[in-house]
Amino acid sequence: MKILVTGGAGFIGSHTIVELHQAGLEPIIVDDFSNSSRSVLEGLRNILGYEVICYAEDCNRPESLRRVFGEHDIAGVIHFAASKAVGESVQQPLKYYRNNLGSLFTLLTVMLEQQRTHLVFSSSCTVYGQPKELPVNENSPILPAESPYGNTKQICEEIIRDTTKSGVPLKALSLRYFNPIGAHPSAQIGELPIGTPGNLVPFITQTAAGLRGQMTVFGDDYPTPDGTCVRDYIHVVDLAKAHVKALQLLFGQAAANHYDVFNIGTGRGASVLEVIRTFEEVTGTQVDYRIGERRAGDIEQIYAEVNKATEGLHWRAEKPLREALADAWRWQQKLMRKGG
Ligand code: WQD
Repeated sequence: MKILVTGGAGFIGSHTIVELHQAGLEPIIVDDFSNSSRSVLEGLRNILGYEVICYAEDCNRPESLRRVFGEHDIAGVIHFAASKAVGESVQQPLKYYRNNLGSLFTLLTVMLEQQRTHLVFSSSCTVYGQPKELPVNENSPILPAESPYGNTKQICEEIIRDTTKSGVPLKALSLRYFNPIGAHPSAQIGELPIGTPGNLVPFITQTAAGLRGQMTVFGDDYPTPDGTCVRDYIHVVDLAKAHVKALQLLFGQAAANHYDVFNIGTGRGASVLEVIRTFEEVTGTQVDYRIGERRAGDIEQIYAEVNKATEGLHWRAEKPLREALADAWRWQQKLMRKGG
């Protein structure tokens, strides 16, 4: 069965390609490489032993998607393609609304036209904002978005839900990811942040590798056990596996319409200092850091309740934080050897 993966050359997308292949499915990538590198395809070839079919196309173009659906009998779609930098979305909201809403709108329109009925959507725990109660479950309130990026994820979920409700044949799931980290254990694929990384783990690995000077821990006066923010860090390979389970759930649905959402996290929170210390322990490498000011817009703490995914998707995260950090470090070292 062929599975179309938009944004399949991205961080989560590329790891999902591997898991689809291992589950006996045939992934096909559509990616415009606006925020990913073609070197990912080489890494995938080294892992899979063959060249994944890839269309270097923008999902906002209906004719591009029509061509892919015309050339392949696509059984399901996983939609990752989106812009994802929170800070940039505040500076360039129109880019985010155009890319993220536009690509979903185009994809759904073409899917319905081509009678393709199975969709897994890449959503985010950002839809919960700063939750009042922890852990967050799928019924926790959706709070006003903190950024245009977050707003696009909320709106995209609503578009999909309303479309399934309208009675057209569409079965869809939104997966609300917590904080994906790590890399494939082969070190053939991983995160490729462009420019200065915004996220914690690439910052740690680049600092430890000597590519950057001292890093800053953004605030240690939060009402958390050690004063630093708490997140639910999930190994990207575990996250990728959840997509295969999501597709399997959709394939097993008898009804013509279906929509549901799942939290995809570990259920465990870790503080910024805990991540740094665990990294140091696992890799034997020191991270030069200082405590600085809080970062504007940061949520104090968030972690997932994962019962729904455990029961509904028959999935749970298996890889501990230590393994994710060891894999992220192996990937960073590989990038350095390649001069990346
Ligand atoms: C984690 C913690 C920082 C860098 C991300 C995405 C967001 C959403 C959820 C997808 C925070 C601290 C970081 C540094 C630090 N994902 N930090 N020093 O904020 O949870 O958001 O995941 O939708 O889009 O951006 O993750 O990795 O940026 O930060 O102290 O140099 O690390 O303050 O507490 P965050 P992050």
